[in-house]
Amino acid sequence: MKFSLLLSALAAITQAKRILLTNDDSFVANNIRAAYVSLKDAGHDVYLVAPVSQRSGWSGKFDIPYTTTLLTNGEFGYVKAGEPAWGHEPNDDHIWYFNGTPASSVAFGLDYVLPVHFNLSGVDLVVSGPNQGLNLSPGLFTISGTIGAAYNAVYRGVPAIAFSGSNGNNTFYEDSDLNDPQNPSVIYAAKVVQIVNQLFKSQGDNPRALPLSIGISVNLPKVGSQSTTGCNDPSWVATRLTGAKASGPSLAFNETSGLFSWKDRESNALSNRISGSVVVPSESEVLASGCRSSVSFFSIDYDAPYWVTEQTKPLLGSLFG
Ligand SMILES: *[C@@H]1O[C@H](CO)[C@@H](O)[C@H](O)[C@H]1NC(C)=O
Ligand SMILES: *[C@@H]1O[C@H](CO)[C@@H](O)[C@H](O)[C@H]1NC(C)=O
Ligand SMILES: *[C@@H]1O[C@H](CO)[C@@H](O)[C@H](O)[C@H]1NC(C)=O
Repeated sequence: MKFSLLLSALAAITQAKRILLTNDDSFVANNIRAAYVSLKDAGHDVYLVAPVSQRSGWSGKFDIPYTTTLLTNGEFGYVKAGEPAWGHEPNDDHIWYFNGTPASSVAFGLDYVLPVHFNLSGVDLVVSGPNQGLNLSPGLFTISGTIGAAYNAVYRGVPAIAFSGSNGNNTFYEDSDLNDPQNPSVIYAAKVVQIVNQLFKSQGDNPRALPLSIGISVNLPKVGSQSTTGCNDPSWVATRLTGAKASGPSLAFNETSGLFSWKDRESNALSNRISGSVVVPSESEVLASGCRSSVSFFSIDYDAPYWVTEQTKPLLGSLFG
């Protein structure tokens, strides 16, 4: 009994890793704070570094502060206009905000917070999210600030996972009950820990948790109090970004309001498979029904594959001389 306790304690120690946690819904959003608590409870050394304000849909944009103080209030008015453009929670120097985008918040963490304040270089993993809202298909992959943070980490050679949730409730974390087991943020946080710990377990003695240039994008279904089907522990399904039901944004004009709104639009181009696995379903299919989460592996090698290049290059053939 004592021996097995010791073994599990040792296992916990050997798997304790350094994690940079970020998002696009701001550093005071309920989902990221729940993930922070759970990753720390799992024994990891977690640095939460995220935008001071809502940056959904900012993709990989790399905004940096151009003033040393904030010109407007941060998300939920938690940090006020006139306060520094970056800083940490007064009672927790592992929780930082930055007047930037998700992508630049990752750089702020890796290039400033860790080296300057903690004399540390690098992290084992960047976790982005969980986002409030799904990010399905290449159509949302390129738009999402949550995924933008993850692919910026991967650009730097840092393994990264983006998490996107179906819960449509972007709440100030202090208004979200982290002791409520039906709170979607709490359930998502447990799922984050599950996949992160599995990666670290598989990593063993390897220096990297994921291959160079590869990241993961996870989408989680409605759970807990927001699920109508009692979904509290969604299963994992390996997926690809492209495939059936994959959609991207288009416009709808509203005659009454005289304004445009976002309309999801499926297209053959988004369902077309060029690089993904032939044996797995699309993210959109998996999230369309059931208590399942999609897990897609992406690469930052955006070049078309060799055969596509060879097939397409002749179209410009005479230009290449
Ligand atoms: C910073 O870390 C390096 C490498 O671990 C160490 O050699 C150095 O003494 C540390 N510097 C300070 C000021 O703690
Ligand atoms: C959103 O969160 C708030 C605060 O936790 C809660 O009162 C409200 O019921 C939630 N709304 C939904 C739709 O879950
Ligand atoms: C169009 O705009 C009107 C007025 O703002 C709104 O009530 C209505 O729901 C909108 N219709 C659609 C289909 O979004």
